[in-house]
Amino acid sequence: MIQLFHVTKEYPGDGPALQEVSLEIDKGEFVFLTGASGAGKSTLLKLIFCDEPASAGQLLLFGKNVAKISGSAIPFVRRNIGVVFQDFKLLANRTVAENVALPLEVRGLAQKEIRRKVRGLLRSVGLEHRADKFPPSLSGGEQQRVAVARALAPDPALLLADEPTGNLDPERTLEVMDLLYGANARGTTVVVATHDRSLLERYKKRVVVLQAGRLLSDGDSVRRAVS
Ligand SMILES: Nc1ncnc2c1ncn2[C@@H]1O[C@H](COP(=O)(O)OP(=O)(O)OP(=O)(O)O)[C@@H](O)[C@H]1O
Ligand SMILES: [Mg+2]
Repeated sequence: MIQLFHVTKEYPGDGPALQEVSLEIDKGEFVFLTGASGAGKSTLLKLIFCDEPASAGQLLLFGKNVAKISGSAIPFVRRNIGVVFQDFKLLANRTVAENVALPLEVRGLAQKEIRRKVRGLLRSVGLEHRADKFPPSLSGGEQQRVAVARALAPDPALLLADEPTGNLDPERTLEVMDLLYGANARGTTVVVATHDRSLLERYKKRVVVLQAGRLLSDGDSVRRAVS
């Protein structure tokens, strides 16, 4: 589903944020992406989401090379991707319910179906009582859960989540992780960037470790990844 071949990313006026990263993620996998602050986790997710072009290398997404994709082709690729950004990117002038409804409206679902799905999603993240509030009036953790609900709304083929539990207490962290797991069990390929070692230890999944823009290790052994 995702294939990177020697992908390098340099931001203008900066050293490489990613260097020669080669990586393959299959349909149905659940992958943790970890590494110190500045290692390149968000950059890698941005490249996969076509938010940034690669400087060199190939990036195949659903079999199509998107390393240098631009313009009108991007929304077409993104139709299959749900994304939770590190800084949420919720629309401040839309209510919580409207934010979660947005990807469903884009896909042309009937209003009744949208309302039903949005209610279920907000319930699953414990935010039914915030449906009519605007994001700026919510706590960081609440906004993060809205972002997760919005990303999961269209049952995407691929879910990219950048520190989706970064602002949550341990109980909420497990709730959100359960949601990501549920989506994975229903067939969504999930890539989660996280600093949180306890998650890597708790959920024995594939762990990809970046260090200063390079792939340090890739495998199931958490011990090796975090030692
Ligand atoms: N828009 C940008 N312009 C210039 N440099 C950037 C930009 N975004 C990221 N970088 C640089 O690229 C490197 C990787 O950043 P990135 O945000 O991918 O790291 P990260 O692993 O997600 O870190 P964190 O754990 O703090 O979220 C850093 O050195 C950062 O300063
Ligand atoms: Mg980041």
